[in-house]
Amino acid sequence: MPLQFADRLDNVETSAIRELFKLLGKPGIISFAGGFPDSAMFDVDGIREAVNTALTEEAGGALQYGATEGYNPLREQLARFMTDKGASDVAPENLIVTTGSQQALDLLGKALISPGDKVFVEGPTFLATIQCFRLYGAELVSAPIDGEGVKVDELEALIAEHRPKFIYLIPTFGNPSGATLNLERRKKVLELAVKYQTLVIEDDPYGDLYFGAAPPPSLLNLSASVPGSRELLVHCGSLSKVLSPGLRVGWMIAPAELLAKATMCKQFSDAHTSTFAQATAAQYLKAGRMPATLAKVRAVYAERAQAMGQALRRELGDAIEFTQPQGGLFIWARLTGAGGKVGDGNELAKRAIEKGVAFVPGAPFFCANPDLATLRLSFATADVAKIEEGVARLAQAL
Ligand SMILES: Cc1ncc(COP(=O)(O)O)c(C=O)c1O
Repeated sequence: MPLQFADRLDNVETSAIRELFKLLGKPGIISFAGGFPDSAMFDVDGIREAVNTALTEEAGGALQYGATEGYNPLREQLARFMTDKGASDVAPENLIVTTGSQQALDLLGKALISPGDKVFVEGPTFLATIQCFRLYGAELVSAPIDGEGVKVDELEALIAEHRPKFIYLIPTFGNPSGATLNLERRKKVLELAVKYQTLVIEDDPYGDLYFGAAPPPSLLNLSASVPGSRELLVHCGSLSKVLSPGLRVGWMIAPAELLAKATMCKQFSDAHTSTFAQATAAQYLKAGRMPATLAKVRAVYAERAQAMGQALRRELGDAIEFTQPQGGLFIWARLTGAGGKVGDGNELAKRAIEKGVAFVPGAPFFCANPDLATLRLSFATADVAKIEEGVARLAQAL
């Protein structure tokens, strides 16, 4: 007899991207497909030192069960980390530690979404968010974006029409868009939250990965200047892209009532995030190594982003258009079809694998009305020589 699964699984399907990833094992493939940071960038010495200190000074706490809200020394370090970045009123009790920011998204889905609720996401947005919110029965509405993030006038019209349960945004160096919401629009988003009493979720795993000038202040930082907005704002952070995704350390800052519900949901999910990982992260932050680590990853990714942008312009010319990213891990591009070249991201992805280079077509990142000409290229894990070779192969596939 076939196994009977929960009805909620009817709302999601295995992602097209996973299918593509199966092909990445082919020898010699240069991959621009992942959303990973570069393993060569991990501060192994710093993490080793943090592990040793944790085991020497606090083995009991680091190896024992812990509080669902998070290991207090880490909550303190994270509150300081956020305060140093310009957030006001972030005390340890205003945040909970999550198993990656992915878990924060899952807890928000679990705590907030009833089947049929309208939830807004950017078009395009992080694929796992689409899948996760759909699993809880959300009806997703796509809020259009351009190179400066979500278009606030259209957002307001959509809010007035649909009255969403909440709005999920990746305002800084979005995945996959690379786009950054400009300052004016950030203020407007917070004002809209207050005007329509709508919760806004700011997912911010990439904000620290800027290449030149720092991006505009986060919605969290700006909320201090828009009365009433802080009570309607959730901020999700993560150490994954800046330090190590394997640690699975993320956090969520939210109004007390919501944190309490999310904590309850987390109890049934994993009881707590690994205390060992939390103690390690706390010691790492306490040792003061983060600024140097950030400086290093920013410099390396900036060089690679530059190299990829130049190579794409040189090798693909007017067959592709994109905005040069100012941070993050991705170039989001559109095929123009100029000169009779391939204009469909899926088609190019297949041909590219044949030529030995992989990337992710853009269509799956849209919850509705996919733009089939789009693609996402990660510049994070290949060095400059590989980036140039990979882009040359891409040009051959066009
Ligand atoms: C926008 C966004 N949110 C959340 C995550 C999840 O990251 P983690 O669970 O490793 O913190 C990712 C990872 O790719 C992401 O791109």
